[in-house]
Amino acid sequence: MPHTEQDRKTYGDPILEAVGVYRRFGRGNMVVTALDNIHLSVPAHSMVALQGRSGSGKTTLLNILAALDEPTEGKVILQGQQISGLSEAERSKLRRKEIGLVFQSFGLIPLMSAYENVEFGLRIAGESVKGNQEAAERALERVGMKDRMKHRPMELSGGEQQRVAIARAIAHEPAILIADEPTAELDSKMGLQVMRVFRDLVQDSGMTIVLTTHDPGIMELADYVIALEDGKIVP
Ligand SMILES: Nc1ncnc2c1ncn2[C@@H]1O[C@H](COP(=O)(O)OP(=O)(O)OP(=O)(O)O)[C@@H](O)[C@H]1O
Ligand SMILES: [Mg+2]
Repeated sequence: MPHTEQDRKTYGDPILEAVGVYRRFGRGNMVVTALDNIHLSVPAHSMVALQGRSGSGKTTLLNILAALDEPTEGKVILQGQQISGLSEAERSKLRRKEIGLVFQSFGLIPLMSAYENVEFGLRIAGESVKGNQEAAERALERVGMKDRMKHRPMELSGGEQQRVAIARAIAHEPAILIADEPTAELDSKMGLQVMRVFRDLVQDSGMTIVLTTHDPGIMELADYVIALEDGKIVP
């Protein structure tokens, strides 16, 4: 990972950084330290995979990087702007503009077509309706789902549903895409398909992606793999 001045010259400036991040849950002698002094920099236009056993802190870290949660201590910097310490309203605005989220359980609305799911996502993100149709179709095209856009989730395979969920996450053209176990509910073939979509997004659209996974095959496709253990990065 780029840390030194020389690294910065080689890899470019990081788009996202965690500096001395701690996250503790609970209080007193019940306190759980889920993240313990995390330093991380994510180079722009790369794919970073977080791995580690259950309970190692992967989701906790992703939530903080995605401005869904706040560190107990430390800083998070996105595109040069400190995003830790913002108000809930400011964080929510930032998420709608700069961050795309993908979850393990695709989270599509069953009664809506693939297109409607993506377009609805843009609408709740507060994008002006003008241009939504184009943006939704473009996003579906980028994940290879434009020709299936009239289909409802039920009529799509798990891998296809996840690709629609990715289209929804990128339709507003966020700076960074954050995905928590995006392939956990897919068999290895569909998982690989989804990973190829991620790879293409990095390659062709210059997207930056941080994801978590248990799957060793997927880690191979990442530019960097970071291992967590008991809330710490394994050196
Ligand atoms: N809201 C919470 N309150 C208390 N403890 C929490 C909370 N969220 C997470 N934890 C604890 O923090 C630690 C890290 O949890 P986290 O969900 O980040 O792990 P993970 O690496 O994502 O695990 P998995 O692979 O099972 O998804 C665990 O010990 C968990 O019990
Ligand atoms: Mg998790």
